[in-house]
Amino acid sequence: MTNESKIIGIGKCIPSKVVTNNDLAKLINTSDEWIKQRSGIEERHWVSNNESGSDLALIAANEAILNAKIDKNQIDMIIFATISPDHYFPGNACFLQAKLGISGCPALDVRQQCTGFIYALSLADLYIKQGIYKNILLVGAEVQSKGLDKSDKGRDVTVLFGDGAAALVLTRNECRDPKVDSLIFSTHLHADGAFAKELWVSGLGMGNGDALVTRAEVDEGIHFPRMNGKVVFTHAVRRMCEVLNEALTHNKIAITDVDFFLFHQANLRINEKVAELLGIPAHKVFNTIQKYGNTTAATIPIGMYDAIKEGKLRPGMLVASAAFGSGFTWASALFRY
Ligand code: UT7
Repeated sequence: MTNESKIIGIGKCIPSKVVTNNDLAKLINTSDEWIKQRSGIEERHWVSNNESGSDLALIAANEAILNAKIDKNQIDMIIFATISPDHYFPGNACFLQAKLGISGCPALDVRQQCTGFIYALSLADLYIKQGIYKNILLVGAEVQSKGLDKSDKGRDVTVLFGDGAAALVLTRNECRDPKVDSLIFSTHLHADGAFAKELWVSGLGMGNGDALVTRAEVDEGIHFPRMNGKVVFTHAVRRMCEVLNEALTHNKIAITDVDFFLFHQANLRINEKVAELLGIPAHKVFNTIQKYGNTTAATIPIGMYDAIKEGKLRPGMLVASAAFGSGFTWASALFRY
């Protein structure tokens, strides 16, 4: 019998405002046809002016805690994956902690972009397996809409992103039989900073000039994300295949043994290509990008939530997850739900 991590609760919060491709076409020079054909996205949700990432996270976290049937005071740690925090500092985990009305437990932000959720999951899993914490609240939440360049210059990036949040509660579980019991088998994390500038925000930091940001820089739009889409696309396909194979090899599992694939949602074409290259049948890959766009650190737990609600992800299923994003960073996780 070993100490393992097990998912015991899940919650989600998607803002109510729907932004269709046609809505975007009224703002910038784009079209429903272009967006659907290049990315698979049909619509996304954007917050209203007064909503923040920690607000979305609070709703998702409360649902996850209720679903886990624990008291919020039993949470031993909060890990919050986001690249769109409410404030420059402190991190969103602290704001969420205050909104939940708990105090004392550690509250940590992970900012690993689209790979943030799997990086955060790996930390949670290690803290639990080491016996340091029992119950960990793990959140992926983003408000991307407020930080996008809504001029034609930013159209390649702006059409891809959406807002949303999901939360999990993980707990320590005595695993008797890994063929049956829920557990995180392994996580595999990578990065290559040589590609940091292929998808990044060049300004709004201490790395430039002598001020956080100047009026002229804001006019230039250096606080908006910029991307070399083709480079990101190619690397995403390659690295997601590699890191999925790494998880399978590490656990001596054949790809045909995996019941369900939860990939990061950056582009439907990326996920279809990964599935094609690895010989994964389409019905095993769960995609949500069509309705939410890319919610960065929130895509994987949002997908998990929807798949559970739709009855597609069921207890006992073997799940492989993979993500790729800015950094470049990439990661995978293999777990039994
Ligand atoms: O989460 C991880 C991070 N993100 C990703 O993984 C995204 C990876 N990359 C992609 O998904 C794709 O590269 C995009 C969807 C961003 C772009 O698709 P693409 O097939 O690589 O298009 P492209 O960048 O080569 O652009 C083709 C054309 C260009 O026009 P010209 O130069 O051929 O005249 C662009 O200016 O499409 C134009 N374009 C647009 N047209 C309409 C770029 N953005 C848009 C737009 N609407 N929103």
